[in-house]
Amino acid sequence: MCTEGEIRKTLSVTLGQINFGQWRTPSLRNLKYTAPYMHDGSLATLREVVDAYADIDPERIHNDGEAIIRPLSLDDRAREDLVAFLQSLSATTLP
Ligand code: HEM
Repeated sequence: MCTEGEIRKTLSVTLGQINFGQWRTPSLRNLKYTAPYMHDGSLATLREVVDAYADIDPERIHNDGEAIIRPLSLDDRAREDLVAFLQSLSATTLP
């Protein structure tokens, strides 16, 4: 069971040297309507996001030597399937 203080810590990333390169994990709900993606809007399409995850360089992740993430081995078809899945998380119309 988490305390309220522990839960609050996950609501945002605090500004500090130790948190360099960390970003709050965003909701994936209604993604179709929220391009461009990532904290700086650097990826224009969901395909670009999937490509970035599929080809990620583990050396560029600030992880203190822990293997927390690795490139996904996805061919073109699997990448398109993942994009279709991400698109399915959006409402067909917004209120
Ligand atoms: C196949 C696996 C994954 C997919 C398809 C995926 C998808 C996405 C998408 C579409 C975004 C952009 C959201 C937006 O800007 O509104 C995003 C951002 C993000 N994801 Fe993932 N994600 C995956 C794995 C992960 C994992 C394993 C982690 C954490 C260990 C993670 C943490 C984050 C964070 C922190 C952001 C925000 C980055 C930023 O603002 O620059 N994701 N993800």
